[in-house]
Amino acid sequence: MAPVYENGVVREVEDEYLYDPAILERLDFAKSGVKFNPPISAAEPGAGLRIRPLSTRDYDRGFIKLLSQLTEVGDVSREQFLKRFHEMKQCPNTYFITVVEDTETANPEDSVIGAATLVVEQKFIHQCAVRGRLEDVVVNDTYRGKQLGKLIVTTITMLAREMNCYKISLDCKDKMIPYYESLGFTLEPGNSNYMTMRILKCSL
Ligand SMILES: CC(C)(COP(=O)(O)OP(=O)(O)OC[C@H]1O[C@@H](n2cnc3c(N)ncnc32)[C@H](O)[C@@H]1OP(=O)(O)O)[C@@H](O)C(=O)NCCC(=O)NCCS
Repeated sequence: MAPVYENGVVREVEDEYLYDPAILERLDFAKSGVKFNPPISAAEPGAGLRIRPLSTRDYDRGFIKLLSQLTEVGDVSREQFLKRFHEMKQCPNTYFITVVEDTETANPEDSVIGAATLVVEQKFIHQCAVRGRLEDVVVNDTYRGKQLGKLIVTTITMLAREMNCYKISLDCKDKMIPYYESLGFTLEPGNSNYMTMRILKCSL
């Protein structure tokens, strides 16, 4: 969000969240079946860390740069970021982009150090059920190997339970299968094909 000037002074603009942060506080990690050593959870992610919904201010905290460690992102302007943020927010109970923030880093412009998305798809089948999709999981390379990937994926799967999704699924490269298996996902026999039709020419 562009800085707001009042009498020539820059006023701090408040965070606006993509979804209600209180949802994260009520997730019961004991029910996740995933073991953390040392024990951490969305409510208590560890010293100097915070798990929260994506904020309008995360453009200035390195969110887009972080995504470029996952795939090609392109040159996303602040205006594009905010437009997409508000488009997502206008779809209630659908987009749950969740980030890990290092609140003590010396580089606040890179303080968003992990992210993942839950998309909740509304259905007519199964009695107008909803299903979840896990998307865009990434941890900043200097923070990897510290359970943060595990923490953010578990946060998303617990969020999917909280939103009453009847299942959550993902697609990933073959080499990531053991990783997601360790977090409770399974390849269902006869039902694990992922098919694609590329529409635009790009390396995504
Ligand atoms: C995948 C990724 C999110 C993992 O983040 P991380 O914070 O390093 O993961 P964690 O520390 O929580 O790892 C948890 C466990 O998974 C293991 N693991 C990590 N990456 C793995 C991989 N590619 N394959 C198998 N196991 C893996 C770790 O060794 C660790 O095992 P342990 O608990 O026995 O020590 C991170 O490597 C990343 O951002 N990669 C680039 C983007 C990407 O590939 N995203 C996934 C797209 S589908």
